[in-house]
Amino acid sequence: MTAAAPENAPIGGDEALAREARDRLIADIAHHDILYHQQDAPEISDAEYDKLRRKLEALESRYPHFADPDSARVGAPPAGGFAKVAHSRPMLSLANAFDEDDVEEFAKRVRRFLGLSDEALVELVAEPKIDGLSASLRYENRKFVIGATRGDGATGENITENLKTIPDIPKALPDDAPDIVEIRGEVYMRRDDFFALNERQEIEGGKPFANPRNAAAGSLRQLDSKITASRPLRFFAYSSGELSAPIAETHQGFLDTLDTWGFSVNPLTRTSDTVTALLDTYHDIGSQRASLPYDIDGVVYKVNRYDWQDRMGMVSRAPRWAIAHKFPAEQAETILREISIQVGRTGALTPVATLEPITVGGVVVSRATLHNKDEIIRKDVRAGDAVIIQRAGDVIPQIVRVVLEKRAADSKPFDFPDHCPECGSLAVREEGEVVTRCTGGLICPAQAVERLKHFVSRNAFDIEGFGAKHIASFWKDGLIKTPADIFALKDKADELRRREGWGGQSVDNLLEAIETRRAIPLDRFMYALGIRQTGQATARLLARNYGTIDALVVAMTEANDADTDAYATLVNIDGVGPAAAGDLTAFFNEPHNQDVLDALQTALDIEPFEQTDAESPVSGKTVVFTGTLELMTRNEAKARAETLGAKVAGSVSKKTDYVIAGPGAGSKAQKAAELGVTVLSEPEWLALIGQEAS
Ligand code: IVH
Repeated sequence: MTAAAPENAPIGGDEALAREARDRLIADIAHHDILYHQQDAPEISDAEYDKLRRKLEALESRYPHFADPDSARVGAPPAGGFAKVAHSRPMLSLANAFDEDDVEEFAKRVRRFLGLSDEALVELVAEPKIDGLSASLRYENRKFVIGATRGDGATGENITENLKTIPDIPKALPDDAPDIVEIRGEVYMRRDDFFALNERQEIEGGKPFANPRNAAAGSLRQLDSKITASRPLRFFAYSSGELSAPIAETHQGFLDTLDTWGFSVNPLTRTSDTVTALLDTYHDIGSQRASLPYDIDGVVYKVNRYDWQDRMGMVSRAPRWAIAHKFPAEQAETILREISIQVGRTGALTPVATLEPITVGGVVVSRATLHNKDEIIRKDVRAGDAVIIQRAGDVIPQIVRVVLEKRAADSKPFDFPDHCPECGSLAVREEGEVVTRCTGGLICPAQAVERLKHFVSRNAFDIEGFGAKHIASFWKDGLIKTPADIFALKDKADELRRREGWGGQSVDNLLEAIETRRAIPLDRFMYALGIRQTGQATARLLARNYGTIDALVVAMTEANDADTDAYATLVNIDGVGPAAAGDLTAFFNEPHNQDVLDALQTALDIEPFEQTDAESPVSGKTVVFTGTLELMTRNEAKARAETLGAKVAGSVSKKTDYVIAGPGAGSKAQKAAELGVTVLSEPEWLALIGQEAS
């Protein structure tokens, strides 16, 4: 006999490994989903994320019987922390017209569909297409009761509390409004507000948003509506959903009524009765595009008469009675002066182009990112080139192409450095990665300063008055080299007072701000360390699971060996995948880092993780959710369990206390049974935590 055919392979061999790999991938993907969608702070590139997804798909197609409902959460709508709302009328999208012929054709289609002659009067309303995100507002008995995102058009997310914070959304309607009214429109952020917000983000150590639309989306999807309230969001109303009685006979009449009800309606809206007049409005709005205070990406044309809209209906989720006439992307030609390399906190070398400043779409741009080495090679971008740049919504523009005809004869391709320009250490690009990284770690000044900035930032140590400029100059002068040095600054007060621009008062203020942060909760401390892939969510998970800094340090040191229980425990934390685990163990086992950690532990009072509810019956217990939950979303279930002090794990082991199995639970419930772990139904779980299903 030759080697056994795969189907004869013992169960538990390859397949068990594949299952483990799949579980880890699911946890990893979920972790990155949260970072991307809920925290707007992705830690890996889109390409790296896609790779994870492809690996999972490949595994599941090789082992189709794996595809239990657990994997359905991959790609499931993000921000599961919001409840779902079914829209009473679908929220539609729009078909696009790219040129004037498409608009002519649209007008003809309308006439054809309605059986109208060429002479019949057909009014069309033109209004700017706002580049934000749509929301639906439901008023019952004239009170704003529920507000939702578009979602997939049929079901959105309940973001009522967040929408209530937007000043131009009325909380109540006048007495003559019908009992049920749904108003739809666009939530957006003005460009000036967006720049101010980004500046604030930067000072406070947060990540800047790429464009006003992302800033609006990130602000609207906050689980804490206080954060949304602090963001300058606005709303333009432009259509309706369910109405218990008609508000108007025409769209223009509807908009006029909304205006009297206190909604903001876009002032550039015009009603025309010829295509020529419609296109005039398009060009008129287009010519104002750059000077408008908010981003628009086209003009929407809508049939004015509602009885005609009703007759026309919709096709493939878009109304037949409307079309979006898009603007071409805003482009401009300028000179690329220089390509330089920036080094980030994690050592990533990012090429950046410095441009002759030029105005594109109302924004003066002087820099463009070149992303990475491959991008430079692909576009063959060189210093001195004339380049076409394009702002596609983002403030940082893209380089579309080089104007080769204008290239100087002596131009040379860019030589991507193989050493860090800041510290001279070797820069390497690991297999499968797009990013080249400096290997200098703590000796690299760029990384050191970026890490220190992160260390004192708002969600970390939150040291007031210790901005980026101070950090860079203190670092340069050798006052602080590592985070621990910040806490020794009090011994250098005199030296600080002698520094230019530092009055006695500001030194005292800074030292006091530092003193008040000497005690720090473990989760903040873990986040402050700035370990790759340990964002706030992961830092909290680690704090919850290990409790104290001492336990954490021991566990991370042990987990450096992947064969240990410590490693298995780490990767089994729901939300910590092998990639994050690898970065954590590497960090804790690096001698420089160990020295810094020792110094910090001596200087600080790192407070053990505080269980929110120590009395809870599940406090300290490890739980695993599997199958479909019917009474709440998985994220909600997880959040509740964690609030009660439970640790949520991704897969079942002998350390698991409870497996909560919904319908369709597969291997995990089976494994629990084998290991003698208690398996609970969702209602049993709710009974255990004292939250009976209602
Ligand atoms: S009307 C049935 N009007 O564009 C009506 N949409 O591509 C559907 N949008 O999801 C929407 N400005 O988010 C309409 N003046 C406007 C708009 C607008 C922006 C967005 C909206 C919609 C998307 C469709």
